[in-house]
Amino acid sequence: MAQQHTVRLSVNGKAYEREIEPRMTLVDFLRHELGLTGTHVGCEHGVCGACTIIKDGKAVRSCLMLAVQADGAELQTVEGLHGDNGLHPIQEAFIEKHGLQCGFCTPGFLMTTVELLGDHPDPSDEDIREALGGNLCRCTGYQSIMESVRLAGAKLRAGAAVQAD
Ligand code: FES
Ligand code: FES
Repeated sequence: MAQQHTVRLSVNGKAYEREIEPRMTLVDFLRHELGLTGTHVGCEHGVCGACTIIKDGKAVRSCLMLAVQADGAELQTVEGLHGDNGLHPIQEAFIEKHGLQCGFCTPGFLMTTVELLGDHPDPSDEDIREALGGNLCRCTGYQSIMESVRLAGAKLRAGAAVQAD
């Protein structure tokens, strides 16, 4: 058996420690070691974006990273999204604007949108296209995803305005 390495990291605010083989990818670690199967595996080559998660505040493709490279990191996955009434405003927006059909690509789009709206609370259409350009969807035709992200930004801005009052 290959030599095992210890990985300690935090996912959605919870600390984990596991002994793993050094060749294990981060997406396999999340899905198989931690049981967090909300992060999907599509191409496994960094092309489709289905495996996108947030690592230390930045969107990354978890199929392109080894789990040992995330030692000490703070990760956020789709399971960590929530809002006052259950769903996160970004999730609500994708539902309201029909930004998904089969849902396979959706966790990646949601997490990419988390990063986008964190960096650009009021993004232009060009900002949205650039941010989402690396995420592939075989169902929706993208227009409804654009509308979902616009609505998500509006919801988050409205929430921030209420909090500031
Ligand atoms: S599965 Fe990671 S980019 Fe496609
Ligand atoms: S909703 Fe099916 S691949 Fe995007």
